[in-house]
Amino acid sequence: MTHAQQYDVLVIGSGAAGLTLALNLADHLRVGVISKGQLSEGSTYWAQGGVAAVLDDTDTVDAHVQDTLEAGGGLCHEDAVRQIVGSSREAIGWLIEQGVPFTREIREDGSESDDFHLTMEGGHSHRRIIHAADATGAAIFNTLLLKAQEHDNIVLLENRVAVDLITSGKLGLPGDRCLGAYILNRSTGHVETYAARFTVLATGGASKVYLYTSNPDSASGDGIAMAWRAGCRVANLEFNQFHPTCLYHPKAKSFLVTEALRGEGALLKLPDGQRFMPRFDHRAELAPRDIVARAIDHEMKRLGLDCVFLDISHKPAEFIRSHFPTVYERCLTFGIDITREPIPVVPAAHYTCGGVMVDPNGRTDLSALYAIGETSFTGLHGANRMASNSLLECIVYGRSASQDILQRVDANPMPADLPHWDESQVTDSDEDVIISHNWDELRRFMWDYVGIVRTTKRLQRAKHRVDMLRAEIHEFYSNYTVTRDLLELRNLALVADLIIQSAMLRQESRGLHYTLDYPDLLAEAKDTILLPPSAAD
Ligand code: FAD
Ligand code: SIN
Repeated sequence: MTHAQQYDVLVIGSGAAGLTLALNLADHLRVGVISKGQLSEGSTYWAQGGVAAVLDDTDTVDAHVQDTLEAGGGLCHEDAVRQIVGSSREAIGWLIEQGVPFTREIREDGSESDDFHLTMEGGHSHRRIIHAADATGAAIFNTLLLKAQEHDNIVLLENRVAVDLITSGKLGLPGDRCLGAYILNRSTGHVETYAARFTVLATGGASKVYLYTSNPDSASGDGIAMAWRAGCRVANLEFNQFHPTCLYHPKAKSFLVTEALRGEGALLKLPDGQRFMPRFDHRAELAPRDIVARAIDHEMKRLGLDCVFLDISHKPAEFIRSHFPTVYERCLTFGIDITREPIPVVPAAHYTCGGVMVDPNGRTDLSALYAIGETSFTGLHGANRMASNSLLECIVYGRSASQDILQRVDANPMPADLPHWDESQVTDSDEDVIISHNWDELRRFMWDYVGIVRTTKRLQRAKHRVDMLRAEIHEFYSNYTVTRDLLELRNLALVADLIIQSAMLRQESRGLHYTLDYPDLLAEAKDTILLPPSAAD
């Protein structure tokens, strides 16, 4: 019999949120950080535009708060917005201290100034996005990872897929507390037991639930699904954000074309070269994302187009190459020279605005369980996240949750004698086609029926299909050995179900949730909160 691995804090996820939390705890506690694939597998590594923060003397916390509230369609929690935006300068200071190489202003003589360059994105009334050219996520990830690798108290483990949380409730023990998690070790194929005084979900979002997405494969909503099965509430899952501009090319899987291009003057055009955004919003290309994505979807459907175009070729070629080296190089590999021609783009699923409900310190409904980053619902984003507010949220909550954990250490002893995962009743599957078929079917009907524009009938169809899929997946899960694909499918199907249920409950059009059957806005803005069966009893 193998013994449980033990960590003071088990962090499930090695993106910006998980690494920030680990680094802020490691001087005091032993922290295990797991990633289901390589450590770089999350969305963080791919983030382009930057981090929104109040850094310029002419900008104010109030202005950033107001912009966020407006983009959020009346549903942001103002206290959470104030907490996060109010901590933005400190959060960026911490990243700079860790060594993140943010881009500096260039003086007229070509030398680098001490000031950081701030760019613009949709919904922001000031230049306030600090960035590392157009590869900000990689710069943050690489810097934090290096620090974590250097720290003796942090153990980084790749290829470990969290299957489910272990709770005292499920074990029939008194109280309800999270005790750790069952983790699939992909190199051995066995599920191992991890005991922890605290467990933190930092598993990112669920945009993989849609056929077309800017997200990496890891974004299958595992943290949301695990928290739900452990009895935690989730909120506002109907608000999945579609990024307006992903590269449209048959070989360009999930490549995002950063909103900062529009911030620096890129224009959206129809195939005949005409602009269309001024017809939809006075902020034109810099309107919040829900408006821009819906306008593109409208024009594509109206004119029967496969894509629209994003054009920055009127700017000097050197400016484009130095500000957007990643986009420039990537497009060039597909034969598109963005200094000379427009980029074909389409919207794609990008960000999960809802998630596991948490308090201002990242605590969930279950004792000793925290959720941070994209997997959580803090109230910051409301009905539509403003660009570059999410990395900020990861850093601020990674830091505040770590402080909260440090204050509660003595009250949470290390769990003992956890039962091991029972593999005696399952066999290896010889029908993996069921998994791949169900993956495709799920993601396609979510795209077609629960996408940018919804109707009640489409949502009902989606609900019917997800119920059937979930029954099939449950049977498969009960009989066969778990694999990463099966676990992700199980989680995706559950989160899809929660998204559909939330969308059916919202009988209005607000922010990212737009339905032809309820085109108006209700007078009162309310969160959609779902209670898991155990909590609803
Ligand atoms: P992630 O970085 O997604 O990390 C999730 C981690 O959890 C990974 O390590 C993964 O392996 C692990 N994991 C998941 N499930 C399991 C499991 N079951 N077991 C074990 N490990 C698991 N936001 C901004 O603010 N500014 C930007 O410029 C920006 N650009 C973006 C560009 C792209 C292309 C994308 C996709 C997103 C962008 N975003 C941006 C959004 C932002 O990057 C994400 O919201 C943020 O990085 C999420 O960080 P996270 O730490 O919560 O999760
Ligand atoms: C982008 O660079 O366009 C993405 C920014 C974000 O998602 O916040």
